This record gives sequence, C-alpha cells and structure tokens, in this order.
Amino acid sequence: MPRKRVQILLLAVCLISTGAAAALTVGELRCESLCNPLGIDATPPRLSWVPGGQGRQTAYEIAVTGLWDSGKVASDQTFDVEYAGPPLSSLERCEWKVRIWDERGNASDWSQPAVWTMGLLAPDTWKADWIGYDLPRPAATNLVLPPPVLVRTAFRADKPIAHATMVATGLGWFDLYLNGRRVTDDRFIPGWTDYTRRVYYRTYDVTALVVRGKNALGAVIADGWFSGYVGYLHARDLYGCHPRLRAELHLEFADGTSAVVGTGPQWKAATGPEREADVLMGETYDARLALDGWARPDFDDRPWAPVATGSLEVQPKLEAHPGPPVREIAVFEPKRITEPKPRVYVLDLGQNFAGVARLKVGGHAGQTITLRYAERLNPDGTIYTTNLRSARATDTYICRGGGLEVWEPRFTFHGFQYIEVTGLTHKPAADTVVGVALGSDTPVAGAFACSDPMLNQLHSNIYWTQRANFIDVPTDCPQRDERLGWTGDAQVYVRTATLNCDVQAFYRKWLVDLCDDGQRADGEFPTVAPVKVSGDDGGPGWADAGVICPWTIYDVYGDRRELEQHYGAMTNFIAFCRNRCTPDLLPPANFQCFGDWLNIDADTPHEVIYLAYFARSTQLVARSAEALGKTNDAVKYSELFQEIKTAFNRAYVTGDGRVKGDTQAGYVLALAFDLVDGESAQRAARHLVENIEARGNHLSTGFIGTKDLMLVLAKIGRNDVASGLIHNDTFPSWGFSIKQGATSIWERWNGWTPEKGFADPGMNSFAHYSFGAVYQWMVENIGGIRNDGDAYRHIIIAPQPDGKLTWARTAYRSIRGRIVSNWKCLGGRMTMEVTIPANTTATIFVPAQSAAGIRANGEPLAHAGGLRLLRFESGHAVLAAQPGSYHFASRSGS
Ligand code: BGC
Repeated sequence: MPRKRVQILLLAVCLISTGAAAALTVGELRCESLCNPLGIDATPPRLSWVPGGQGRQTAYEIAVTGLWDSGKVASDQTFDVEYAGPPLSSLERCEWKVRIWDERGNASDWSQPAVWTMGLLAPDTWKADWIGYDLPRPAATNLVLPPPVLVRTAFRADKPIAHATMVATGLGWFDLYLNGRRVTDDRFIPGWTDYTRRVYYRTYDVTALVVRGKNALGAVIADGWFSGYVGYLHARDLYGCHPRLRAELHLEFADGTSAVVGTGPQWKAATGPEREADVLMGETYDARLALDGWARPDFDDRPWAPVATGSLEVQPKLEAHPGPPVREIAVFEPKRITEPKPRVYVLDLGQNFAGVARLKVGGHAGQTITLRYAERLNPDGTIYTTNLRSARATDTYICRGGGLEVWEPRFTFHGFQYIEVTGLTHKPAADTVVGVALGSDTPVAGAFACSDPMLNQLHSNIYWTQRANFIDVPTDCPQRDERLGWTGDAQVYVRTATLNCDVQAFYRKWLVDLCDDGQRADGEFPTVAPVKVSGDDGGPGWADAGVICPWTIYDVYGDRRELEQHYGAMTNFIAFCRNRCTPDLLPPANFQCFGDWLNIDADTPHEVIYLAYFARSTQLVARSAEALGKTNDAVKYSELFQEIKTAFNRAYVTGDGRVKGDTQAGYVLALAFDLVDGESAQRAARHLVENIEARGNHLSTGFIGTKDLMLVLAKIGRNDVASGLIHNDTFPSWGFSIKQGATSIWERWNGWTPEKGFADPGMNSFAHYSFGAVYQWMVENIGGIRNDGDAYRHIIIAPQPDGKLTWARTAYRSIRGRIVSNWKCLGGRMTMEVTIPANTTATIFVPAQSAAGIRANGEPLAHAGGLRLLRFESGHAVLAAQPGSYHFASRSGS
C-alpha cells in the first residue's frame, strides 16, 4: 500500500478511535419552530438549527439575504436566536442560512438556505371583508345539515407577476382555489380556537397559480368547528351560524407595483355538489351537481347570488396560526375485505387512526355509495358503531357516471379502523376504498423497537393514538361526539407526545387556547380548551394542565419566551388554588374533581388528588420562576410547596407511610410529586409495591395514577415491578388490549373483554392517549434516554435491561440533535451503541464492576476518546461523554 494511503488510513482509524471531532455541519433550519414557515407574526422571529457531527459550536453567523448578517457571534446557542436585522414588513420574504464554528475555530459550510415570510403585521390591516352565503339554515334537529357553499370572483392581472401570496382565514372550514387549482392540501383551516376571541390565518405562496390576464378565485366554505356539531353538546352553531371566509391575494408585479384582491361584496355565491358536511356527522357529495370550471375565470356566475358580508356573531383578533397545519400523513390499504351481509362490504385497514376514506369508483349516474366508519367489529363481522354515540360518521357519494371518479371528503373526519361500504355493484378491489390518515403535521421525533413484539405493538399503538388525536387541538378521542381538548388528558400525555413527535409549535398554539383564552377570570383553568367562554372548572389533575403543559414544553424545548408568556396565567392559577384552600392549606369542602378517572375499583380520595396536584403545580411554578430568573418568586413558591407538603403529610399520610385511600394512585402521587421523604417515602414505596403484588402484579390506576405509576417504580428502584407490569397481558394491562387485537390505546382498560364484550358504549373510545403516557417510561428506562436539564443539553443514557428483553433500539430527535441508545444483552454480556449529539454532554451508565470489564470503541476504557470514567455505582461504570458515537462491550459481572 502506498505510504500516503497508509497515513490517511491511520489518521481515519485514529479519528474514529479517539472520537476526535471532524468539522461540524449544520442543518434542520427552523423559524419559530417550523420548517420554512410562511406568514409568521411573531416578532422578532427566532431562528434555530441543529449542528451535526461531533464537538461543540463556539460561534455562529446568520445571514438573511439583503437584510441582516449577524457577523460571527461567539455563542453556543443553537435555537431561538432572535432575528436582529431591520424591522420586517408585512409579507416580507426572508431567505437565510447559517454557519457555525467548532472549538478549534473551524467553520462549517454554510447551511442549505431556508425561508420564512412574515404575515400581515400591524399597522397594516386587513382590507378584505368577511364573506359567506346565508341560506336559510335548517334547525339543528333531525340531522338536517346545511350545505357547504361556493364563493368566487374573477380578476385581472395585467402586468407580469413577480410574486403572489394568499392570506386567508375563516369562521368555519374552507378550501381555496385559484384558477381552478387547489391552493393547498392543508385541512380544516383555520384551525380551532375560541372564535369569540381570536382566529388564525394561513399564508400560501401562489405565485405559480396566477397568470397574466384573467384569473379567478374560489372557495368552498363549510361549518367546521365554528358552526358544525362539536363536543358532546348535541348542538351545532356554538360560535355562530354564519360561516365566513376572509382572504386576500397580494400581487406583486415585476415593475414593483402591487395590488390586493380580497373577499368582499363583489364576490358571488352558490351551492354545489357538497350537500352536507359536518365534523362529526360526515359529508355528502352529489357529483351530478358538480359545476365544472366554477373556480376558473370564464365561468358564468351571473346566476349566482351576491355574497353576504361581515361577521355577524364574533369579532375575533386575526393572528398567524403558530402551529403546523393538518395534513395527510399516511394511506392505509385494506388488509382484509369481508361481506358480513349481502353487498355490505367491510374493509379492515389494519390500523385505528383518524381521517377519511378515499373512494375510486366507476359508477353509474346517481349510484349512491355510503361509507360508515368504526373502530371495532361486532361478533357477526358488521361494524360496531354504538360507541360513536351521536356522531353519525357517515359519508355519502353520489356518482356522476361516465368514467372513473375519485373522491374523498374534505370537511369531516372520523376515527376508525374499519370502513363499511354499501352501494357498490361488486366487491371492492384493494384500491377502491383506502384510508387516508390525517393529523397535525408534527415531524416524527422518536423511534423504538425491542425484542418483544408486544412492546413494539404498544409503541405503535401509542404513536397512532397520538396522531389520531393531534388534529389542531390535543383531543381526548377522534371518533365519538366529543373530540375535545380535554385538559387532564393533555397534561398526563404531554411529555410522551414530545418523545414521539416534534410538538413544539403544535403546543404553542394550544397553550394559547388554554392559558390565554381558556383561563377563568379567577385563575382556574377549564376542563377543555378551546372553550367558548371560559367558565368551567377543570378541577385537580385537569386544570393543572395550565401549569404542567407550559412547563413541560419549556423543559423539553427550552423556549423561554413562551414560558414567560404563560407565567402570569400559571401564577394566577396557584393563587386560585391557594385562595380556595382552608386556612391550614387543605382543600375546600366542595370542589369539582374527576378523580383518578377510569381506575379499576380503586378510587383515590379527591382531597388527596387536590392537594397533590396543588403541590405539584406550585413546585413547577417555582421551577419556572427559577428558569426565568424571578428569584423572589422562586423562593415564594418553593416555600408554598413545602407548606402544602406539610399539610399533605399531616392530613393524608399516616405514621407508617399509608396515604389516605390506600390506592396505588395515592402512593404514586405522593412519591412522584416529592410529597413524602425518608422513612415515610420508603414505607409508601413498600405499600405501593405490596398493593400491586396483592392484585397479582396488576395495576389499578386510572388516568391520573397511570401517568406516573411506572416512573415512580423506576424512581424507587423497582423497575423489576415495572417490568412485570409492562410485560403483563392479563387484565388490566397494556398487553391485555394488545391480546385483543388493539392497534391503538383504549380509553378504558376493559374497552372489550372476552367475558363481557364491549364496555359501556356511553364512554368507550378505542383511541384515547392517556394510558399511552407509559411511553415516557419506555424511552427513559428500556431505552434509557433521559433529559438531564436545559432541554437535553445534558443527557443521561442508562438503559435497564430487565432480563426479558434481549435488545432494544431507541432514538430521540431532541431540539439539539439526535440521541441514540441501542443495546443487546445476552448471558451477562452487554453491547451498547450510543450517539450523543454535538453541543451536548452525557452521563452514560454501562453495566460493569470495573474498568477492565468494558471496552469502548474497541479500546480499553482508558484509551477511548471522548469518555471519562467518573465512578462506579450500583454495578455500573458511570462515564462522562462528549458528543460522538460510542460502542461499548461489557460484562456485568466483571
Ligand atoms: C373524556 C375524557 C376526559 C373525561 C373527564 C371524558 O368524556 O373522554 O378523556 O378526561 O371525560 O373526566
């Protein structure tokens, strides 16, 4: 081999074995937590990136073309860097890139360019008016639904176009067209807010759709969350009964002039093929009534009616939507097609999810195809719909005839695994009807696989239940007539949500619904958000979402601006809880509380839940105060936490560590929230374990207790008990539902049992994420990846093989980069592959009794670059790790 090649080879080996850093790279550029967002109104916008490779960023330079260059800034900050160039104007387009330097002064290449554009900023105001078509509206009885309406206008653009931007909002849902082409595939725009207070707009680049000369704009407007059936109210028109659209097309001509075409009285309205469309009830489309070319310029709209203008019921603030849009996220083809009754076909899509069907059919004119949706089947193979309650969940398509027709509803969604199809003349083929999964476009952040197929199914069930319920709002369920942003469900699940997907922007939006719009004047947070008028009382475990969710999002993503934004609401809530306590800090005689919802014959006294959650929220507000540098508040809330803790112990904990009620959930709350110390904590821990054992190694917890049950077992050093619970497949357990074929997380442990069949159909969803909160334990204990502070700036890697699993592969894309923890374990030998992203540090726990028992990257530990032995602890070598990828081989006995 030539000498030079040998040298290069040696150098390469050397770099790998020492873990020495190659130059950094930089990517994943985001603005306001979104990838290339259009129309943001946060000022100043904040920019983020992720360094790649090993090592540390010591400086960055941001260049925004033609506007601002930060110059080289000595800083290791990689997210939420504020744009500091000249003030930005409405709709301004900003192209930017970034480069970074490592600790040896090497610069990365410039990143690929990214873009953001601004929305309509003050003092610019909307020029367009609200428009709609106010047909006589059937009363909200007998399910007579009003039809969606079409609106259109034509306009001319007589000069060459440089850029065209569409800014649009609505009261109801809308779908926009420009010259007959759909402006976007986003669904359910403008999202769900308390429309009495605010409504969001979205911005689209439509330069490619506008032509010189004659153009036309069109829109279909449907009831959506504004005036359709929502929640369990058995009523529609919650916010108003006059759905509206407000849109502006901003044209910038090549000669530097501009024009705006907005919605207003010149628009015309009609009804079309959409005969009905409702969130819960479904959609009916009569293709025979299609108006060809209705959104094109030459369409004759003279017979159309003038539009109605103005918003009649609400005058909300207009702001840019801060979160991701709802989009198609997957397509499921049927795995099985059966015919339980003649000409009634049932398609099993193999996965419970939220979305719609896509129909492809060559029917005759007037042929009516009906699609009904269900999560489960009856014993005779027909679909089980009783648990949908009053949600009709039925779509109807009436064929036009004369060729292949493709249709999918746009203004409804359903929660389902099965589709019943009637009206076909022959058995459907695999592509006649497919399922289209919809969800907020939250990028996938987590990955999990292990040697136990049941746990892999559990992970999949959790992931899909999250996708099914993250539809602009984190909801309880996607199928029955409820689908509300239940606060208790959201708070128990939020941490797990962050481990599956990047939900930062999604929660940024919902925290406004909850904290800004949903809080009652006296400080209490509601049962659900968004709500119309804040007046309801979430009660302990539910209302606390107003503290737990903003704190968790801060803890994971490190966004100080947002924590600051909600800090006032959080402290007002603590004041509310404090004010309604008795003078000795005990709960008032009466208060609303859902308890440990859906537990197994183990009701935890509501006063225990009240005080435990009051303590927890107070502790988190103290941490928030500390994070925000509010030192006095940090002291004040820490002291209050101690006082509540004292009251809790005095009132509810006996000398031998029994928590009032003697339930698993009671012990879990006391231990999870640091309410018991020393001997008392040890005794409480013992009572918890004994309680689990007394139930034959089964849990008895509901929503509140299950959230922290496994985490507490890890905390008290009893992952052996946790392992028993996670591998259990007898009732009640996660595995039990999987044994019954679950492809999603059930609302109740007994959703279906072989002995009793379906549980109470009055409340029996098969897609409720609360019990899926266990994924946090899986990532932190099976995978062993933990956030050790400052949004994963410091990471702990401590996988805990339980003797039943032989391998696990877990990854998490944190805000600072991708973390990997893979391990294999056989006969006392363990191998681990760990990746620690640039700019972070980690403490890695490798099973071993002595340094001689470990090899790192093929070397004795002492020679392995990037690692430093800190100590030995409980059969583990504890290593301090620099960014990089490591391979460990160890023997736990040596
Ligand atoms: C919802 C829950 C919610 C509960 C309140 C139910 O109807 O589906 O998930 O938390 O009510 O107890």
